[in-house]
Amino acid sequence: MSQTIYQAIGGRDAVEAVVDDFYERVLDDDQLTPYFEDADMGDLRSHQVQFISAVAGGPVEYSGDDMREAHEHLGIEEADFDLVGRYLQAALEDNGVPEEHVETIMAEVAALKAPVLGR
Ligand code: HEM
Repeated sequence: MSQTIYQAIGGRDAVEAVVDDFYERVLDDDQLTPYFEDADMGDLRSHQVQFISAVAGGPVEYSGDDMREAHEHLGIEEADFDLVGRYLQAALEDNGVPEEHVETIMAEVAALKAPVLGR
C-alpha cells in the first residue's frame, strides 16, 4: 500500500516540528504579528497541525472552522498571505520535507488564497 505524504514525512512529530517553526517565523515578523494579537495560539497551533496533516493526506481529520470563516474577520492583505506562504514553505524545507512533497502541499495552500482573503 502506498503511503500518504503525511506518513512519508514522519507523521505527527514531523508536522508539529514544521508548525512550531512556521509560527516562530510568522510571529517574528512585525508585519504579521498584529493579525495574531487576539488569537489563542494553543488552539491555533493544534488546528494548524490537523489542517496540514489533512492536506498532506492524513489520515487525520481537521475539526476547525472552514478557511473563509476562520479568516474573514481579519481582513488579510494579499501580500501578507504570500508572506505567510513563504514562511510555511521555508518551514517545510528546513524540516527535511522532500521538495516534491513541499510542492504538493504548497499547491493545496495556494488554492486557499481566495477563501482566506475572503474573495
Ligand atoms: C496559507 C494559508 C493558511 C492556512 C492553511 C491557515 C490555516 C488556519 C487554521 C487551520 C486556522 C484555525 C481555524 C480554527 O481554529 O477554527 C487559522 C486561523 C487563523 N489564521 Fe490562518 N491560515 C492561512 C493563512 C493565514 C494568513 C495569511 C494569516 C494572517 C496574515 C492567518 C492568520 C490567522 C489567524 C490570526 C487565525 C486565528 C483567528 C482567531 O483565532 O480568531 N492565516 N488559520
